[in-house]
Amino acid sequence: MPTKINDDELLRYLEDHTYDETMEHFGISRMTIARIRKRNKIKFSPNKIKLAIVGIGNAASALIQGIEYYKARGNNIGLLHPILAGYHISDIEIVAAYDISEKKVGKDLSEAVFENELAHYIDLPKMNVVVEMGELLDGVIDQTRKIIKPASLNSVDIVNSLKKSEAEILLCLLPSGADKAVNFYVQKALDAGCAFINGTPSSIATNKTLARKFYNKGLPLIGDDLQDQFGATIVHKLILQQMIRQGIDIKESYALDVGGGAESLNTIHRSREIKREIKSETVSSSLNINTPIVAGTSDYVPHLKNGRNSMLWIVGRGFLGNEVILDIKIQSQDGPNGGSVLADVIRATKIALLQGEAGAINEISCYGFKHPPHGTETPEIALKMLADFVLGRKQ
Ligand SMILES: NC(=O)c1ccc[n+]([C@@H]2O[C@H](COP(=O)([O-])OP(=O)(O)OC[C@H]3O[C@@H](n4cnc5c(N)ncnc54)[C@H](O)[C@@H]3O)[C@@H](O)[C@H]2O)c1
Repeated sequence: MPTKINDDELLRYLEDHTYDETMEHFGISRMTIARIRKRNKIKFSPNKIKLAIVGIGNAASALIQGIEYYKARGNNIGLLHPILAGYHISDIEIVAAYDISEKKVGKDLSEAVFENELAHYIDLPKMNVVVEMGELLDGVIDQTRKIIKPASLNSVDIVNSLKKSEAEILLCLLPSGADKAVNFYVQKALDAGCAFINGTPSSIATNKTLARKFYNKGLPLIGDDLQDQFGATIVHKLILQQMIRQGIDIKESYALDVGGGAESLNTIHRSREIKREIKSETVSSSLNINTPIVAGTSDYVPHLKNGRNSMLWIVGRGFLGNEVILDIKIQSQDGPNGGSVLADVIRATKIALLQGEAGAINEISCYGFKHPPHGTETPEIALKMLADFVLGRKQ
């Protein structure tokens, strides 16, 4: 029989110790701590959110520059939620970082983030987090090797490094299609006791076996494939939904984009099909129509740097069969387009940890990802689910 834990004793201990230390000291899981906190009506922890990132590319650069930018300027323009469950974006503290590029490994994170196509928006103070060598596996392909040259080093012990850094969450921003590498880091997160956020299109949060493993470890699993704040996928979906509501019969449609980031080159050669499938499915799943819809990346244009130009084309038929044609172009920067959503899902994941939620968390995944375990019809429903979740209201 396990000995009964005294709530007061545990809460006093927790004031001066980390979750991991408390778990070890009392021989209990994170979930038990969360339950004790909940029954004692303890407000959310003001502690920093300790985040590790694997893949210090353009998306990571945008997030890291964003943390400093919003801290320094005190403005909220571009933030979906300046405060989420008591946390500001600047409460995210990067405690560990992994990459394989010879331009990034061994450098302080504050320098490594500028070895990408994304522009330099703000100077970063030294972060005292050195980018460590990860496990290459299928992280690069022949075509991307020209711009991502792997360092000739052995991988560090990722589990040890994660534990030493006290990371609570591992955010995965590897190139799309690097399934072996993504799965490798999923296992490391499980072994180190970290929640996992999958920004890539690899099937992780949608994989029932993995979701069960996270559930059994009392850890949240979030994904798959980050949803941009305002990109072609969401604009395309919303316009089509509205046209259908207005009685327009959709005849055909596509949303194709060109970009200059390493990820655009990678997508074209490696994961064009899977990305296209996810984007097309994301748009068509909620429409309930039988119309050819294609969405995806069509070319790599290096001089666009981290820019992305998306072309939307929709042909519909209205009264008397009259054609309505929409021909729209969206110009955006790829990394920053994911930054605000990432800031929200990282904070929501911290809440999931504090509430002792485990396994694939659909409420967070639906809000911030193109391919969650169970999708919703509209962004409003997804937002409401997230709001209920962070307030601890069960669906
Ligand atoms: N707006 C967005 O940025 C956005 C939106 C949706 C999805 N995503 C997804 O986020 C991911 C990252 O996008 P990005 O634009 O930052 O890509 P990127 O190519 O700029 O960065 C990828 C990084 O991963 C590193 N890497 C490759 N193999 C590795 C390995 N085995 N171990 C450790 N590091 C490795 C590369 O060196 C590079 O620094 C992609 O999967 C993309 O589909 C991003």
